[in-house]
Amino acid sequence: MKHLPQAFFCFCSVFIMAQTNYTKFEPGQLWLDNNGVHINAHGGGFLFHDGTYYWFGEHKISGKLGNKAMVGVHAYSSKDLYNWKDEGIALSMSNDPKSKLIKGCILERPKVIYNKKIKKFVMWFHHELKDQGYSAALTGVAVSDNVTGPYIYQDSFRLHGGILPLNFTKQQFDKAEIIENDSDPNKKQKVIDGAYFKRDFETGQMSRDMTLFVDEDGTAYHITASEENQTLLISKLSDDYLSVTDDYIRAFPGGRNEAPAVFKKDDKYYMFTSGLTGWKPNPAKLSVSDSMLGNWKSLGNPCIGTDEEKAVTFWSQSTYVLPVEGRNNSFIFIADRWRPENAIDGRYIWLPIQFENNIPVLKWVSSWGLSVFKN
Ligand code: GAL
Repeated sequence: MKHLPQAFFCFCSVFIMAQTNYTKFEPGQLWLDNNGVHINAHGGGFLFHDGTYYWFGEHKISGKLGNKAMVGVHAYSSKDLYNWKDEGIALSMSNDPKSKLIKGCILERPKVIYNKKIKKFVMWFHHELKDQGYSAALTGVAVSDNVTGPYIYQDSFRLHGGILPLNFTKQQFDKAEIIENDSDPNKKQKVIDGAYFKRDFETGQMSRDMTLFVDEDGTAYHITASEENQTLLISKLSDDYLSVTDDYIRAFPGGRNEAPAVFKKDDKYYMFTSGLTGWKPNPAKLSVSDSMLGNWKSLGNPCIGTDEEKAVTFWSQSTYVLPVEGRNNSFIFIADRWRPENAIDGRYIWLPIQFENNIPVLKWVSSWGLSVFKN
């Protein structure tokens, strides 16, 4: 030691000061990456691969323009979930005006899963075409050989054109009435009965807020807000995860759900969603089913807290549920606290999912660590 020059110690202390070394989660606070920059991965999705966690999310820029996709999907990696390393842009927006993925379009809620059969990482995301608001309602796919990218954009599309879901008969379809006029007093019932579904039957169903879920047997599902955000569609993916199969259901028709996030515990599938208030928070909803393509039942608002906290899901909107590796029944609820006026400043709300009478619940914890999980 005595041979080391003084300069070595100066270098080390500067280096250490620039590092962040988190040992707890502090929901809603700035969260710095290994370069000391607030993590920029909103509407995120997570993947655990070869002993490392990866976080993929919307890279936002400052101001309102940040609500559009100006850069792409940002990736981070972590061994311990507290400290995240910047892995750069995994999927870049295109400068080619002929590309659907051109800079300035909308790309939200990217999710990545690994397909063992084709040995590729497959990213799906909500995609809206440039200068068309939210009317295109497409789901997009990109593929990479490496977890952190570069992901190669494949295509974006609507879903299930000309195909009926498993839980909607030809008779129901024939009876469904298309809504001619928005002030129709029977609009809600007509939506439940398949008005928008029938309207979009030939061209394909809308897909906005979405997530992916991979079951223990490797079967993957795409879950999305469809039918003008009135109904969720849950679709089984093909074996290579690159497309949807014809096995799909309408879930909660007319239920007005967005921001789906799915997890599985004790052979039951749980899904968090939000209501429809854009960037503003609203009460979370929880539902349960015995199978992904089964009969989903509502369990109501999972939040326990003050009336205000329950009304706004602790000022957040769900994006993912992350199972903690190596611990049983340990799940983290991951949500966004959006800042649409300055999108880059959006915050992350991570809360431990607690179980009361075996039902998942969410409570505000301002500072916590993985030791809250007892298993
Ligand atoms: C939210 C949705 C976000 C984004 C936003 C735009 O409801 O969850 O992903 O689409 O609306 O207003």
